[in-house]
Amino acid sequence: MNSAELFNKAKNLFPSGVNSPVRFYTPNPVYFRKALGDRIFDVDGKEYLDFNLGFGAMIAGYGNEEIISEIHEMDYLSVPLGVPSELEIKLAIEIKAGIPSIEMMRFTNSGTEATMHAIRLARAYTGRKLIIKMNAGFHGSHDYVLINAGSGALTFGTPSSPGIPEEIGKTVLISDYNNIADTEALFRKYKDQIAALIVEPILGNIGLITPEDGYLKNLEKICHENGALFILDEVITGFRFGYKGYQNIEGLNPDLTILGKIIGGGLPIGLFGGKKKIMEMISPLGKVYQSGTFSANPATMATGLATLKYLKSADYEYIRKMTDIITNILQPYITDHEIILNQYKSMFQIFFTGSRVYNFKSAMASDSKRFMSFFKYCLQKGVYLSPGQYETNFVGFLHSPEDVEIAATVMEGGIEASRN
Ligand SMILES: Cc1ncc(COP(=O)(O)O)c(C=O)c1O
Repeated sequence: MNSAELFNKAKNLFPSGVNSPVRFYTPNPVYFRKALGDRIFDVDGKEYLDFNLGFGAMIAGYGNEEIISEIHEMDYLSVPLGVPSELEIKLAIEIKAGIPSIEMMRFTNSGTEATMHAIRLARAYTGRKLIIKMNAGFHGSHDYVLINAGSGALTFGTPSSPGIPEEIGKTVLISDYNNIADTEALFRKYKDQIAALIVEPILGNIGLITPEDGYLKNLEKICHENGALFILDEVITGFRFGYKGYQNIEGLNPDLTILGKIIGGGLPIGLFGGKKKIMEMISPLGKVYQSGTFSANPATMATGLATLKYLKSADYEYIRKMTDIITNILQPYITDHEIILNQYKSMFQIFFTGSRVYNFKSAMASDSKRFMSFFKYCLQKGVYLSPGQYETNFVGFLHSPEDVEIAATVMEGGIEASRN
């Protein structure tokens, strides 16, 4: 069956035929069946250079031989499920070595779960109710975080999905990213009521938006001056730029950190962790409840461990250089103000606007229709980018310079073709 035929079947099984909204695009999503290295293969056997890499999780590429042989050594299939195992200790030690602010942690099965538990914990620890999140910051799809102010700077978040009780929307304040004065004003207005601020260090779910110099340090400072916890959501950025978190690049010291994606090596994972005195409030030591049948499951622990072992000696400069190739090839379009290309090391996204993209509002200025036409051109030419303007693209260790050049040339064609 080809993709169109599979989609016809899927439409009756899943809403819009997919299991996560961003996987849907018209006329139908391409259905894939195999992945190897930096390539993914669709059901018709067509090959694509992949710059989505499982939304960043597959930084080490698909079928990476070093990782696979390491996983086999661990024989995780003989480890029972739902019991403590040494694998979880080994992975936790590796994570703590890379990100020392995580003194104690709990594994979950997704980033969504991890942010949900971290927010509950922050509320319990501080005895306060309100949370600040950034406009267009993404922390998964549970009720506490699926809230966005829309294009206006509303003070209280409006639930962005029907089904979220209004009362929950009112516990989430929305701030403008890269705008410290906006966040300060919220702390002034809701003095002694804010439990925590949660932020992605680099916004990765509104395209790619980087923090201005000193911005995150300032956020951390005003949280602490106001008795609120600083929660850094490193689901995308953890172990993406080195054997560390983004926090270690800027010398941040968050109270709680969220991880996911890369640390599971392609299997479902999330993690929340941080200061011991806060984490000790988790049950059964403390009163804050959190649990999961599949938490720290042996398959994920083994795959994550093997992936981190690989990343420990990986040359992260390599993937930055590979990404620079794309930026350099597309430079004429940037110079001509036809596109903005936001890059941070091995992550990038293209916006069809001539003006700097640094927050929600400026990202909205991009011509997202043109982006989809660009995306579809690239798809047709065998380059799989993240399927949406408000996503981010990733370069991984199995991308070769030749493949990256080919892909960048296709992107050039896509920019030209999407003009009409
Ligand atoms: C920054 C961030 N936080 C949380 C999540 C949610 O993670 P998951 O999709 O594993 O639930 C995502 C997912 O893309 C993310 O990018």
